[in-house]
Amino acid sequence: MGDPKPASPPHGPWLTRRQCLALPLATMAAGCAGPQASSQRLVEVDLVASPSTALLRGAGQPPVDVWSYGGAVPGPQIRAVQGSRLRVNFENRLPVETTVHWHGLRVPHAMDGVPHLTQAPVPPGGRFRYEFDLADAGTYWYHSHLRSSEQVERGLHGSLVVEEARPPAVDRDLTWVLDDWRLSRDGRISADFAQPHDVAHAGRIGNVVTVNGQPPADLRVRRGERLRLRLVNAANARIFGLQFDGHRPLVIAVDGQPVAPHEAQRNTVVLAPGMRVDLVLDATGRPGERHAVGDVFYPRAAYDLLRIAYDEGELRSTPLPPPGALAANPLPEPDLAVAKVHELRFAGGMHGGLHQAMLDGRSVPFMSLLRTGKAWAVNGVVADSHVHEPVLTLRRGGSYRLQFINDTRWHHPMHLHGHAFRVLSRNGQPTRHREWQDTVLLAPDEKVEVAFVADNPGDWMLHCHVLEHQDGGMMAVVRVA
Ligand code: C2O
Ligand code: CU
Repeated sequence: MGDPKPASPPHGPWLTRRQCLALPLATMAAGCAGPQASSQRLVEVDLVASPSTALLRGAGQPPVDVWSYGGAVPGPQIRAVQGSRLRVNFENRLPVETTVHWHGLRVPHAMDGVPHLTQAPVPPGGRFRYEFDLADAGTYWYHSHLRSSEQVERGLHGSLVVEEARPPAVDRDLTWVLDDWRLSRDGRISADFAQPHDVAHAGRIGNVVTVNGQPPADLRVRRGERLRLRLVNAANARIFGLQFDGHRPLVIAVDGQPVAPHEAQRNTVVLAPGMRVDLVLDATGRPGERHAVGDVFYPRAAYDLLRIAYDEGELRSTPLPPPGALAANPLPEPDLAVAKVHELRFAGGMHGGLHQAMLDGRSVPFMSLLRTGKAWAVNGVVADSHVHEPVLTLRRGGSYRLQFINDTRWHHPMHLHGHAFRVLSRNGQPTRHREWQDTVLLAPDEKVEVAFVADNPGDWMLHCHVLEHQDGGMMAVVRVA
């Protein structure tokens, strides 16, 4: 499809790739002789978490102290072809303990990066080797799962792209890691992590939005160009609702999982924390034109994120045919006829009418919960650590329908580890695309039904990805045994 070429992944100095080792046979002799029928490709990367600085406010402004992977925010993009095995040699050079979670990837339990639940925290100076197969193609991300409301906010996250064996033809494959920061007047990351007001309301909404760790820059395109745009919301709490003026991007994947290509409802691509959306964006404007990409999720605080700016000339004059659907990932299809139904009710937050909830085996009044930094409950129970009596125990291999009921006045992106689920209905209305997701946004008072096969054994987190809500007790353990 002519130039420009797909962007190559950024490699920080801490990230090295040693690709093409043959596994599991004859592990020596690491030639790079192309795919071999009986062997799996190993992609090995070194990943270091450490304090560093980032130009969150642009090159003309002082750098901001952050914690990062590979010395950069976001961390280096990890890329590998579907079916590969990924090995990440992780080293913690932070002053605090941490873990790395592979959000959306269906990894074995021991590799899921949840402190105390799946592994011991990695101490300062410690190392941990993460290794797992990349069964599903798509756009994923990795982030700290220890005190996430602080560690993710300080910058500990990066994107992870699992390439399709036959990716759709596009001129450029771009990733936008969207983030939101609360910087204080002196230009530092405000240290009020998980403060009570944020916990009990919408979470930590910041005052600086970045794309790939920088102030959003115009997206320069040429007429006729076709882009694949991978959006990742790495913010603690901010929900994005992106409108592409003058363009009609098609959603081709949600949370990494392919979906029938379609225009987003009301032409607004809604992306809650933790979520990813892949778009195909055809540059149909004319040389010299500029079109806003607006973020309208909070209508009274709508703003233009950036502009799509057309360069001179054109890449092609005849429009391309619409993109086809991506090949499905090997997800087990739940059998809805026999699926067991469970209800998960989320309660709490300000104005929510939660009077009391169970914390540490005691019934605690809401006002006392607030004083201990808690505000949310799942089926009446407030979690105060990752290790918890399971809210559900599911039979391995069984099909399940989960009814998520948002009994609060707030939005909650609910995330399940280790699995992807089909989103069947919202408030009883069947969804049009039955999307596979790992993080589903519930509007206030909304009821969402999802279904999946519990095929991955272990204790898995189910939590709100507004990290202050998670901190405030909005998490639970789902056991698959
Ligand atoms: Cu993206 Cu439990 O996390
Ligand atoms: Cu929430």
